[in-house]
Amino acid sequence: MKIATPIYSHVADYESVYEPAEDTFLLLDALESEIGFLKKLRPSVALEVGCGSGVVSTFLFKILGASTTYLCTDKNSEAAACCHVTADLNQAPLNIVTTDLVTGLLPRLENSCDILLFNPPYVVTPSDEIKKPGISLAWAGGVNGREVMDRFFPLVPKLLTDKGVFYLVVVKENKPDEISRLFREMSFSASTVKSRRSGPECLSIMKFQRLGTKSGSHG
Ligand SMILES: C[S@@+](CC[C@H](N)C(=O)[O-])C[C@H]1O[C@@H](n2cnc3c(N)ncnc32)[C@H](O)[C@@H]1O
Repeated sequence: MKIATPIYSHVADYESVYEPAEDTFLLLDALESEIGFLKKLRPSVALEVGCGSGVVSTFLFKILGASTTYLCTDKNSEAAACCHVTADLNQAPLNIVTTDLVTGLLPRLENSCDILLFNPPYVVTPSDEIKKPGISLAWAGGVNGREVMDRFFPLVPKLLTDKGVFYLVVVKENKPDEISRLFREMSFSASTVKSRRSGPECLSIMKFQRLGTKSGSHG
C-alpha cells in the first residue's frame, strides 16, 4: 500500500525547522513497510519525540487514522509552530507539546504509548553544540551522536505499553550494535527495519519491542 507524502512545502519558510530529508523519508518508508504490523497493533497512543515539521506523525496518521491519539514533542518552539501548520494542512489531529524529550508527560504517560518514534539529532559533534538553540538542535548529537538519544533510552520502558514498539533513526557512527545491546539488557528485542546510504551517512531504522511480545521481532 502506497501512502502519499504529507504536504510540507511550507517548512522551507521556517529557518530553524528541520526540512524533511533522507533520514525522514527512510523513516516514512520503514513505517510504510510496517503497515500490516502497525494496524494489527491497534495502537491507542503514538508519541513522536523531536517531531520537527510533523511530517512523520502526519504520515502515521494517514496509515492508522483517527482511532489513535497522536502526541508530538519538540524542544524547538518554531518546530512546534510548524508542526501545527503541517497538521492543519493535512487535517491530521496532532497534539503538540514544546518540551525537552518527554518532560512533563511522565508519569501521566507511563505504560501508555503503543508507538514511539524518534528521529533524533544523531550527528557526531562537540558536546557544546547540543546546547545551542534553533536548527543545530536538529542535528547536533554530541559524542558519538548519542548524547540526546542516550538520555531518552531509559524512558522507553517507562513509556511503552507491553505490546508497544519504538522506531529510532540512527547512523553508523551512533554504534547501532551497542544500542541493540543496551536495549537487550532492558529486555527488549532489537532489529533493523530499513537501511540506506545517503551521501556520507549510513542510515538505519531500528525497531525495539519488549521480549516476549507475541508480534515482536527478535533480530
Ligand atoms: C533530525 S530532526 C527530525 C525532525 C523530524 N522528526 C523529521 O524526521 O524530519 C530532530 C528533531 O529533534 C528535535 N530535538 C532535538 N533535541 C530535542 C530534545 N532534547 N527534546 C525534544 N526535541 C528535540 C529538534 O528540534 C528536531 O526537530
